[in-house]
Amino acid sequence: MKRILFIILLTTALASCTESKKNTECIDEKVDDIIAKMTLEEKIGQMVQLTSRWEMTGPAPAGEHMQGQLQAIKNGEVGSMLNVTGAEACFEAQKLAVENSRLKIPMIFGYDVMHGYQTMFPIPLAMSASWDTAVIRLASKIAAREASSAGLNWTFGPMVDISRDARWGRVMEGSGEDPYLGSVLAKAYIEGYQGNTLSSHESIAACAKHFAAYGFAIAGRDYNSVDISNNTLFNVVLPPFKACSDAGAATFMNSFNDLNGIPATANSFLLRDILKEKWEFKGFVVSDWGSIRELIDHGNAADKKEAALKAVIAGSDMDMEGDCYASSLKELVESGTVSETIIDDAVERILRVKFQLGLFDDPYKYCDTTREKAELLKAENLAASRDIARKSIVLLKNNNKLLPLKKSGQRIAVIGPLANDKDSPLGSWRAQAIRNSAVSLLEGVKAAVEDSSKITYALGANLTIGESRFHKMLQFNETDKSGFAEAITAAKNADVVLLAIGENCFQTAEGRSQVDIGLKGVQMELFRELYRANKNIVIVLMNGRPLVLNELDEKAPAILETWHLGSESGNAIADVLFGDYNPAGKLSMSFPRAVGQCPIYYNHLNTGRPSNTWGGVFWSHYTDEENSPLYPFGYGLSYTNFDYSPIKMSAKTMSSNGTIKASIDVKNTGNLDGEEIVQLYIQDVTASIVQPVRLLKAFNKIFLKAGETKTVEFTLSAKDLSFYSNDYKLILEPGTFNVFIGTNARDTQTSSFTVE
Ligand code: NOJ
Repeated sequence: MKRILFIILLTTALASCTESKKNTECIDEKVDDIIAKMTLEEKIGQMVQLTSRWEMTGPAPAGEHMQGQLQAIKNGEVGSMLNVTGAEACFEAQKLAVENSRLKIPMIFGYDVMHGYQTMFPIPLAMSASWDTAVIRLASKIAAREASSAGLNWTFGPMVDISRDARWGRVMEGSGEDPYLGSVLAKAYIEGYQGNTLSSHESIAACAKHFAAYGFAIAGRDYNSVDISNNTLFNVVLPPFKACSDAGAATFMNSFNDLNGIPATANSFLLRDILKEKWEFKGFVVSDWGSIRELIDHGNAADKKEAALKAVIAGSDMDMEGDCYASSLKELVESGTVSETIIDDAVERILRVKFQLGLFDDPYKYCDTTREKAELLKAENLAASRDIARKSIVLLKNNNKLLPLKKSGQRIAVIGPLANDKDSPLGSWRAQAIRNSAVSLLEGVKAAVEDSSKITYALGANLTIGESRFHKMLQFNETDKSGFAEAITAAKNADVVLLAIGENCFQTAEGRSQVDIGLKGVQMELFRELYRANKNIVIVLMNGRPLVLNELDEKAPAILETWHLGSESGNAIADVLFGDYNPAGKLSMSFPRAVGQCPIYYNHLNTGRPSNTWGGVFWSHYTDEENSPLYPFGYGLSYTNFDYSPIKMSAKTMSSNGTIKASIDVKNTGNLDGEEIVQLYIQDVTASIVQPVRLLKAFNKIFLKAGETKTVEFTLSAKDLSFYSNDYKLILEPGTFNVFIGTNARDTQTSSFTVE
């Protein structure tokens, strides 16, 4: 009854917007209408976001987690909440706002739905290895369907931070090192979360984060300063964010870092000049958790009042858990320090998104417990997760065709700390995943083979000591090898060993930077012992960042990179191990040979001394390690082989407003059908701002039957050959361009042409 009354009241209040007007005009009119009625306190309230009690395993009862916040919500002084989850809890919280506040403005509920809500998909770094926009779109669409059934209407994702440094634990949340791949996938995330229209009850607002340059934290240490050139900012960091803005992302989130001395949260160059003016972004910007208050720690503001002043002037519209806007904005406006038009602009942006979501029509539209029950973990969602997971797997090594394995007649030993782990595969940003709910590798293997009595299992050793939880610092097992003997016996009695090692999922994500990116604890010792017992070892890696794998690469005949794959992890890995799916994933980040190479990335500059032409030491290199990564960007094997013919160019020259075509024949020379991701890179050989040795500009995922040949054609135009100048203008300079097409950033065919 109350709900109906609310809708009638609102419809009457907003009746001025006629049907003949476009939806956007209507929304703008409705927003103006409300703003005209709002007091300053109510406006500032919209710019405040509060958290509920942080709880990873389930929402606390509404009454309990709202303590201390109830009055503010009732007063209409809270525009948004984060970390309230579940249709019922969100309903209760929303009711407080719309039934008590004067203008009955609904709150928007945000949550970190990064790779699934309850059905978990692979971590984003893994999904990026699919190089498949359909994969990203589907995963985020299902995540949005589940989250929206559970009261939420806003995800703090996608994270589109480019990073070149595997020490940074947050690389697991992004799409790797490349701005082009990152942009293509960023757009797909927005399309998946937001659907065709935000007003659908199955869509949620997306949030492009962290704006900007968070992935360039010095030395890979989370929250550290960022000091990069405009060249890197414009050409590497910003493109995925621009792709999000162009795709209609409803919101952006600040980053914690300072950028060239100015904290991103108070950076008007980023927020006003680029995002809101140049890109004409109409949504709103939320701070990261407490990042407005942290302006004080940065040494950029003396107190909360100055922090609020700097952030609001710079263009941060909503204060996430910073208590700066709530405590100081009123005084700043009343004293004339901050103009009320700045407040109005922020509130307008926030209200617009609420209207777009349809919250004013029905503030409880996401709070349907029946839909929630039906949607979460439904079979269709899990089936999609399995398919997406197998598409995210990367085959790093496969000597003597050890893989795929046969489903019968082989004794298989499944060993290792991660072999029967049902929790780590769920990943670190696991939203409302049920603990220990992933299909483990052991379970997947047992389900796949014809006779599961041929499968033996041994733990070997634990990776960590004690319980692994989101907030805890992990302790690794450095000493306990008591399980080695049993594992060695299992290996000796098997035809093939599957060794599941890597990282606990809580080794990556926020606050999880490491200086050592090898295998922790006694894992390498376990490998050496097992390798002595049985050379037929398949390494099944589970991890959230590129690792240093030199010794494994030297010795183990097969290595499968399976990341943290989500709810269906074990089944998806078994699909690949037994050849039901031919792996096609390609790395979206280079794997270094040594941590000392970080940051390492394929699209580096040539330098003045790129090679050792005269002997001796005076060239750009390390004296104790190669320059190249162990596995380059774009790398990944298949159970079949692909042969690339020379490149054919449609012409030798291209005019600056024309196009040119590069084509190549790709042949599947093996006995199995398979998919290949054909990659095109270019190099602007001579430029006023020197350009990378190669830059990904296009790719095409193709399916080839055994023996089949396909011609892949790419069309290049000015936009593919241009770069941003230091004053953020896209420019194309005439001259020679090299074209590389191939199976990864290293192994390519080469051609060239001239732009006139
Ligand atoms: C801090 C993280 O940096 C950000 O990515 C996340 O969305 C917020 N906390 C909210 O949980």
